[in-house]
Amino acid sequence: MQRQLQHGMAMAAAALALAGLAAAALVASPPAAKAQEELAGDTELWTITRGGRLYDSWMKELLRDPPAGTHPAYPAAGKKKGASTWRCKECHGWDYKGADGAYGKGSHYTGIKGIREFVGRDPKTIAPILRDETHGYTKELLPDKAVDALALFVSRGQVDMDLYIDRATRKARGEAARGARFFQTVCAVCHGFDGKTINFKDEKKPEYIGTVAHENPWETLHKTANGQPGVPMVSLRALDIQDLVDILAYAQTLPVK
Ligand code: HEC
Ligand code: HEC
Repeated sequence: MQRQLQHGMAMAAAALALAGLAAAALVASPPAAKAQEELAGDTELWTITRGGRLYDSWMKELLRDPPAGTHPAYPAAGKKKGASTWRCKECHGWDYKGADGAYGKGSHYTGIKGIREFVGRDPKTIAPILRDETHGYTKELLPDKAVDALALFVSRGQVDMDLYIDRATRKARGEAARGARFFQTVCAVCHGFDGKTINFKDEKKPEYIGTVAHENPWETLHKTANGQPGVPMVSLRALDIQDLVDILAYAQTLPVK
């Protein structure tokens, strides 16, 4: 009896000590979301979406500043300068086709090729490209884990957007009525039924989901699959690609202003 009691007390003390450790671990760990990913182990699908958000804007996703000035590989003839030229999408495009895609003309033209040839390649052969002299992404800018996620995205996360978006008309090859079901139950929670709850620009020149879906369907499809860097937004990559294209088709029916 006595021994049992002592044993019980020892157990309780051990439990308390463990609880203390757990509390200390929680306090010492970075933001809660990160700790949870590490507890559960990242799924490949999640890591691909992470790579997709880094491709969009690694600065926003990692909450860090890009180096000062324009990326050395950004061509002098290009119209952009500064921070945005460090984004993968600025040189390789939202459709991953570079000069062969939507950035083949207009204010984002660089003449740089896309990354489509690297679909299905071993991510281990892609990571060193990002560390090469052309790219100059040092470990201080992009830690190994981020480079690995980017490499996985390049290998397994790309969508051949010309199959789903008509390049000339920018129309999604999807069914708006099917997309509405997803939009109203998922996207509308934050963006509103008409997509106007969040204005991405300002009062003077508002930009809503409807606006972006019309003007840049490739960007909209990329963000629907991977999420928006640096803010809490869902990524729907777990759905079928055609579901995402249907959402895009519906988003294209929403008000643009
Ligand atoms: C400032 C422009 C620029 C930015 C930003 C940029 N790249 Fe590149 N990238 C290039 C150039 C230039 C090449 C070489 C193309 C060539 O060989 O003609 C290249 C090549 C590549 C290739 C190999 C493509 C091939 O077929 O040879 C991959 C993969 C790639 N980049 C991925 C990325 C990723 C991922 C990011 C973001 C972390 C990124 N790039 C950011 C300019 C850029
Ligand atoms: C949990 C809230 C939330 C949900 C759900 C959500 N979003 Fe977002 N979304 C945001 C936030 C926050 C932003 C960033 C707003 C900003 O930067 O001004 C954003 C930005 C965007 C952008 C970027 C526009 C731009 O030009 O930068 C697009 C496109 C977008 N969302 C589409 C969607 C779609 C499609 C869905 C449904 C599949 C969806 N969102 C669901 C919160 C959400």
